Amino acid sequence: MAETRKPSRPLQGMFSAVPRRYDIINRIFTLRLDERWRRMAAEKILEAGPAVVLDLCTGTGDLSLALDARGGRSAVIGADFSLPMLAEARRKAGRAGSNALFVAADAGELPFRDAAFGAVGIAFGFRNLTYRNPGRDRYLAEVLRVLEPGGRFVIVESSQPRSPFIRAMAHLYVTAVVLLVGGLISGERGAYRYLAHSAVNFPGPDGVAALLRGAGFSRVEYRRLFLGAAAIHVAYR
Ligand SMILES: C[S@@+](CC[C@H](N)C(=O)[O-])C[C@H]1O[C@@H](n2cnc3c(N)ncnc32)[C@H](O)[C@@H]1O
Repeated sequence: MAETRKPSRPLQGMFSAVPRRYDIINRIFTLRLDERWRRMAAEKILEAGPAVVLDLCTGTGDLSLALDARGGRSAVIGADFSLPMLAEARRKAGRAGSNALFVAADAGELPFRDAAFGAVGIAFGFRNLTYRNPGRDRYLAEVLRVLEPGGRFVIVESSQPRSPFIRAMAHLYVTAVVLLVGGLISGERGAYRYLAHSAVNFPGPDGVAALLRGAGFSRVEYRRLFLGAAAIHVAYR
């Protein structure tokens, strides 16, 4: 198990350094579209009425809060390996009167039994787990393990626009604005340099679908958002 934790550590330090301003920076970068995209992902996660859902890489808990607000009878658990991010998530849940629970966990070694969840969601964390991350296969295997047969893994993540012109504009935006504003506001230039680099080089939606099928998911669908700048994938166990 040690080798699954090791590759996560650099990212753990990076995310633990940015929680206080993480939300505001997200809103600025995505022109508040991130909130709408999480709500769309939450609808997909809850569509089949799962009893318990996992928000993997919950960060400051926004997807968990969106799930709990819509959840009806679904119990919501948010998991992340960054304690400062989780502390912020718990603060926000307290303020919102949310019943979502937050647990410290590494995606490579989830502290849940097999088939514990009817659905697993991840908002803007899939790229971190899979882009040049040596733990990638282990993370995907863990998602499959904790999903019920037929359960779904819903991913909302930045993507690559189909049009070369729009893609070039999106890359320019990510590199310039993310590096400049992200570095200045958060004071963590390294964290945002990594985010910009991975956003530009991350595969498009077909590449992500192929990755998921290769990992053992039986069926994968996706929908492009905002001219392809982001996408929601739904992969079934
Ligand atoms: C870009 S943030 C996304 C946060 C949140 N889901 C959102 O919608 O804003 C990625 C999160 O993934 C977490 N993370 C990255 N690698 C992880 C791992 N191996 N195990 C658990 N959490 C991880 C980081 O701590 C960070 O909070």
